[in-house]
This record gives sequence, structure tokens and C-alpha cells, in this order.
Amino acid sequence: MPDATGSASADGTGTDPRPLDVVPLHRGGLTPPALDPAAVPAHVACVMDGNGRWANARGLPRTEGHRVGESTMMDVIAGAVELGVKELSVYAFSTENWKRSPAEVRFLMGFTRSVLRAQTDDLLAWGVRVNWVGREPRLWKSVLKEVRRSERITAANDTMVLNMCLNYGGRAEIADAARAMAQDVEAGRLRAASINEKTVQRYLYSPHMRDVDLLIRTGGEQRTSNFLMWSSAYAELYFSDLPWPEFDRTELWRACEAYAHRERRFGGAVDRVTSRS
Ligand code: IPE
Ligand code: IPE
Ligand code: MG
Repeated sequence: MPDATGSASADGTGTDPRPLDVVPLHRGGLTPPALDPAAVPAHVACVMDGNGRWANARGLPRTEGHRVGESTMMDVIAGAVELGVKELSVYAFSTENWKRSPAEVRFLMGFTRSVLRAQTDDLLAWGVRVNWVGREPRLWKSVLKEVRRSERITAANDTMVLNMCLNYGGRAEIADAARAMAQDVEAGRLRAASINEKTVQRYLYSPHMRDVDLLIRTGGEQRTSNFLMWSSAYAELYFSDLPWPEFDRTELWRACEAYAHRERRFGGAVDRVTSRS
């Protein structure tokens, strides 16, 4: 049975989730900015950075920063749904993050698995469809199994796609696409002369991914660290000095308001002579 708010449950007994009714509102009662729907970024990507430094600055181990980051992520997801964002990509573990200490890697793998297990019911109720983006080699089998489970449970949702970028690297994605294209050319399934940008898009981990409109990085660094290289070729960049554990949906809304004022030209140009008086 759906509960009083019309939410659904992971056991599949719920119906009619009506996501906007069930997304938890901001704790302080704040509401999203009234943006023209055309000015809302359809695809927002987040480099959730600064967890470790946030924790260490408080005398805590880095892993405590990751733990607090879970509630930031859920708050940002709720805020994105409220604002009408259609696709949100979160960078949870990069192909470069294997360089970290075995203890931190082990923590991050186990933690990701438990976040997926704990939050899938809410994501289902909020109308969010989970989509894993990344490469399989090295990713823990148990994590892969868990993210596949979340994908299955939320497969019918269509309010917002949540791209969980796990064991993701932009260069790895392009190299993997190039290898798959070469294999198809060798096997006679693809003509080399016909390869264009649309073809490459079809060979990416998630061929239906929209181009990223707004790429947010928290934690004070101004780099993209190999995130969604192909898809964010024309993304607007927004850097926040706040560490991820201190970011929240109101900061997401602030970034989206800044985005709404950007002029995106995509290489084009308009002659707008200002009158000189
Ligand atoms: C981002 O925070 C989370 C992951 C990479 C998993 P960091 O762990 O990179 O935290 P800082 O940047 O070292 O503070
Ligand atoms: C990017 O952050 C990866 C994730 C947020 C998962 P990093 O902390 O790994 O990036 P660098 O090392 O500062 O470039
Ligand atoms: Mg970092």
C-alpha cells in the first residue's frame, strides 16, 4: 500500500509516487528560486570534493567526511528534483581514486554499497532513476551488484536520472569507446569512414546521457579531475569553496541561479553594438 504521502517502496508494493509531494523540503523551509524553466540546467554534474579535508580540519579521519557527504548528496538530489533538473551526475569514485590508501579505498567501496542500500527506497519514492556510469574492471563485484539492484528498482522512474559515476574516468570512457568502435570496425559492423561525434556518443558508457549544462565542483579546487570529459565539453563551470559536507540544496540553487545568468554561445556570436553617447 502506498503511504499517506503517496510514496512507493522498494518491495514494489507502492504506486503513484508523485515525486514532488514526497521529496523532503528544505529543513529551514526555503524553496527553490523561481527560474524560467528554460533557464534551469537540464543536466547538472557534481564533483563532490573536499570531504577528507573537511574531516581532517575537525580532527577527524577522512572517512568521517565521506559519511557526512551522504546527507549532502541526498539533500542536493532532493533540491535538484524540486528545481526541475532532469539529470544529475555525481562523481562518487574516480578511476584515479584507486591510488588512495587501501583502507580508504576499502571504506569507499563498502560505504558506497551501504549508501545505495540505504537510500534506494527514498530515491524510488522521489521519482529518481539510478544509472551507473563507469567501468567494470576493478570495481568491487558487491558494489556493482548493489548499483545494478538500485537501477532495477528505480527503472520505471522518470522525474530525474541520477548518474552514479563509480569507477568513472573521462579518458577511460573515451578509450573504452574507441576500443569498442575499433572492434566493431574489425568485425564489419561499423564503417570507419562513417564515424562522427554521434557515433562516439553511442559508444559512451551511457549513450543517452544529455550534455552537461552545469558542472559544479565543491572543495575549492578549480579543475574537473577527468569527470565527464566528452559530455561536459560545453558545460558552464561553477566552483564553490565550500567542502562537500557543508554544501546543500540552497548552494545548488545558488549555482543554478548563476547558471541562469550565463550567456551560452556554443561558438556562435551575435553582433550587439552598444550605442556610444
Ligand atoms: C571527494 O572528497 C570524495 C571522493 C573522492 C570519494 P575527497 O576525499 O577528495 O576529499 P579531499 O578533496 O581530499 O578533501
Ligand atoms: C575527484 O576528486 C573525484 C571525486 C570527487 C570522486 P579528487 O579529490 O579525487 O580529485 P583531485 O585528486 O583533487 O584531482
Ligand atoms: Mg579531493
